[in-house]
Amino acid sequence: MSDRYLPPARVRADSASPIQSLDDWRRVWMAAQQDPDAFWLHETRRRLRWQRPPTEGLVGNFSDVAQQPIRCFADGRLNITESLLDRHCEQRPDKTAILWEGDEPGDVRRLSYAELHAEVCRAAGALRRLGVQKGERVIVYMGMVPEAAIAMLACARLGAVHSVVFGGFSAEALRDRVRDCGAVLVITQDEGLRGRRTVPLKATCDEALEGEHGVRHVLVYRRTGAAVGWTPGRDVDWAEALAAEAPDLPAVICEAEDPLFILYTSGSTGRPKGLVHSCAGYLTWAAYTHEVVFDLRENDVYACVADVGWITGHSYIVYGPLCNGATTLMFESTPLHPDAGRYWDMVDRHGITIFYTAPTAIRALAAQGDAFVRRYDRSSLRVLGTVGEPINPDAWRWYHDVVGEGRCAVVDTWWQTETGGIAITPIAPATPTRPGSATLPNPGIVPVLLDADARVVVGPGEGRLCLSQPWPGIARTVWGDHDRYVSTYFSTFPGYYFTGDGCRRDGDGYHWITGRVDDVLNVSGHRMGTAEFEAALVSLDAIAEAGVVGFPHPIKGQGVYAYVVLQPEAAGADEAALLKAVNEGCRAVIGAHARIDLVQIVPGLPKTRSGKVMRRILRKVAEGAPEQLGDVSTLADPEVVAAIVAGARRL
Ligand code: WTA
Repeated sequence: MSDRYLPPARVRADSASPIQSLDDWRRVWMAAQQDPDAFWLHETRRRLRWQRPPTEGLVGNFSDVAQQPIRCFADGRLNITESLLDRHCEQRPDKTAILWEGDEPGDVRRLSYAELHAEVCRAAGALRRLGVQKGERVIVYMGMVPEAAIAMLACARLGAVHSVVFGGFSAEALRDRVRDCGAVLVITQDEGLRGRRTVPLKATCDEALEGEHGVRHVLVYRRTGAAVGWTPGRDVDWAEALAAEAPDLPAVICEAEDPLFILYTSGSTGRPKGLVHSCAGYLTWAAYTHEVVFDLRENDVYACVADVGWITGHSYIVYGPLCNGATTLMFESTPLHPDAGRYWDMVDRHGITIFYTAPTAIRALAAQGDAFVRRYDRSSLRVLGTVGEPINPDAWRWYHDVVGEGRCAVVDTWWQTETGGIAITPIAPATPTRPGSATLPNPGIVPVLLDADARVVVGPGEGRLCLSQPWPGIARTVWGDHDRYVSTYFSTFPGYYFTGDGCRRDGDGYHWITGRVDDVLNVSGHRMGTAEFEAALVSLDAIAEAGVVGFPHPIKGQGVYAYVVLQPEAAGADEAALLKAVNEGCRAVIGAHARIDLVQIVPGLPKTRSGKVMRRILRKVAEGAPEQLGDVSTLADPEVVAAIVAGARRL
């Protein structure tokens, strides 16, 4: 087989992972498939500290989620922070748990497991003193500082439910999330710091909370020391509050299925959904996949350079690594600060062994040339991971050949906020890889491809990627709207969980993810709904109607293309000025990461006679393939198409 990379030979002595070869993978995958109950009960008992170990395994199936939500280990009781902290305080108290690298190279903090435990207990004590109770929701709106992880774990210590909101989101987006989950407290910081630019987190938080009386307190960590607005009685200083608390606080014992966190994510339609992850099933899945996929070892220095505001940060900066007693890096800055060598500089200084990033970053860094990489010693690296979007073979090879010097395993990990952890992926020591393929399912994951008529594709072929059986880490519901959960994921193909992605399977059973088949965009690994962009655009006075689609972008994976119909008063507006205005609008309604690349003023959107926008046409024109428009005879006004094609914009 051409272009096939065999896993590097390795010493298995200090590896904790039970899967070291393709034969191991086959055996373990079959065991999980044949008896999921026994398989996951065994895994959870050895991975988590239980107060009352469960006797029930996985319950439920995808035909009946409306009536019976998926449950896992439901009769067990625990507090998951005991698995993340207390246990490791006994076994490895002085091992670095969080290795933090700040905005400036070499600005480093290390928190051992003992120190992290003490900080989490103090923060939990402060939250409790501020009235936070088990089951109540707390929003975490912070940058990449250890205190963000401490805040998450402090909530978990009390059985409170955290919802981390990525620090790039706007006041309006933050307010929506505060309201939707009914948060009683917000944890934020004065300012974030990225590439020497400050992010006004507290000011944005103040704007979001204007008139929101449900939020009783705002706990403020001071990162830069900048002067910020202060609401007496509501706002509380993090350092002062923690100083008054003891370094030990008994954990509040929860049911296995109690919610651990809510994380908002974008879908095809409507507002972002608050996906709910459970305590024990989620943590078992995050810990299992983290150990097995990356071939984790006791002395690894593990670095995932995502943000804790997204699921990758939850599962693979905080929950999986800490449950496994690993040293996990938190990185505050950007890959380009002070220059394109920053990641490899950190690999060199910290002796990083496992490195996990997104294809966008790889493409952006490859474009800057190899010298930035070669300047640093990367001999510590053993496993390189990617996540978030399809990786093109060129970027894969650059990662493998240049960054990994041809000796490291590259794992292209496919998964979603909904799956809680990695679902389809090579397993570092076991799976022969091919550039661009996410290869094979993890134990517990049973992928099925369905064609347009919902028939199962057998053998090699292409279709919509569905998963046919539950696994411990699947999101259990949408916060406050179980019907939406059922209709979004389980109604397109009854009996299956529909991922929203397209996928090709080759003759070896390898999976090649082709990207979203719905109206979700993936820009630089950030998941955004076209509907959210459209709502932001029509909220502007000048715009009557808008249609937003993605198009292939050499660095970002997908770019954002907006077709807008102007209000009569705005006729004659020029597109450059309009692009600026629409981006200000998107920034205000969604956040700084929501940027439109191209805007085209059109006389109307292509609609069918029943008024439905034919998005296929918008997509084809944005992709630069107007010759593939197909049948346009059902359009109400075919002339609109000619105008759209004639005025198409390119980067
Ligand atoms: C995409 C991120 C191809 C996919 C963990 C999925 C990928 C969406 C890959 C979920 C990959 C993620 N190859 N596509 N390795 N990983 N995706 O919820 O379209 O932010 O549905 O979770 O990212 O994005 P989310």
